[in-house]
Amino acid sequence: MKKSLVSITDFTKEEILRIMELAAGFEANPAQRLLIDKVIACLFFEPSTRTRLSFESAINRLGGRVIGFSDTTNTSVSKGETFHDTISTISNYCDMIVMRHSLEGAPRYASEIAKVPIVNAGDGSNQHPSQTLLDLYSIQKTQGTLDGINIMMVGDLKYGRTVHSLLQALSLFRTTFTFVSPQELRMPNEYKQYLSDRGIVYTETESMEEHIASADIIYMTRVQRERFRDPMEYERVKNAYILREAMLAGTKANTRVLHPLPRVNEIDPEVDSNPKAYYFQQTENGVYVRMAIINYLLNAN
Ligand code: CP
Repeated sequence: MKKSLVSITDFTKEEILRIMELAAGFEANPAQRLLIDKVIACLFFEPSTRTRLSFESAINRLGGRVIGFSDTTNTSVSKGETFHDTISTISNYCDMIVMRHSLEGAPRYASEIAKVPIVNAGDGSNQHPSQTLLDLYSIQKTQGTLDGINIMMVGDLKYGRTVHSLLQALSLFRTTFTFVSPQELRMPNEYKQYLSDRGIVYTETESMEEHIASADIIYMTRVQRERFRDPMEYERVKNAYILREAMLAGTKANTRVLHPLPRVNEIDPEVDSNPKAYYFQQTENGVYVRMAIINYLLNAN
């Protein structure tokens, strides 16, 4: 049976911990040519900097080869070829497909079509499981544990796929959640229900200041212009939360600021030099975690 990573819920807690272990091994010793005869297709139907390039870096560091595209303009998608036929064809050319798509469910559909494993590199507002695994790795590295942390998720909790899949993963680790957002961008009911079904208590608020002192992790997110149908609604909420350095003064010694990036205005650049800012180290962790995901899935298949 082919194993893919389409949703973070495709991995058990044990598998998540195994990825953490493998990633630590790759961080300690990145020069491991384990993909020497492998070809991996990176298909980005939607823009990306970190996810695409860190996957490509991971594949190259492991001695594998990359094929693919970063937009569909020069592919037969622009001639009207269906998603089905595109995936069916490329699946004959590679050992694994890493894909990003604006349509929720596109990677799940691809996993039903392709002969090879699929890694979801982000689908609409739904899931971003490889980001979640690198977020977990960053939390573990900075907090020394995944168990019992207090996380404050801030910003676009409605459309933000990174917070949706991170919430599901952290629900396995006795996490305390605080959701900070404007009314328009609140965490969708299905995710709150996901926590309630598991007996996990969460707090919803519009005030970042109210809860910042108790947070171990401040997980900032961008308000994503591309997800709004109404530009006026985006204008109304785009600057709802801006983390400034002074706001970190009363936080705990172990508090770290994470952000999946890219950022627009939600973290003032003056925060970058504060030792509690961890978002650029987080991007480096992405390479080791993606090395781990690729190896794990290829060995599982
Ligand atoms: N974090 C993340 O998904 O960034 P990119 O959109 O640049 O890939």
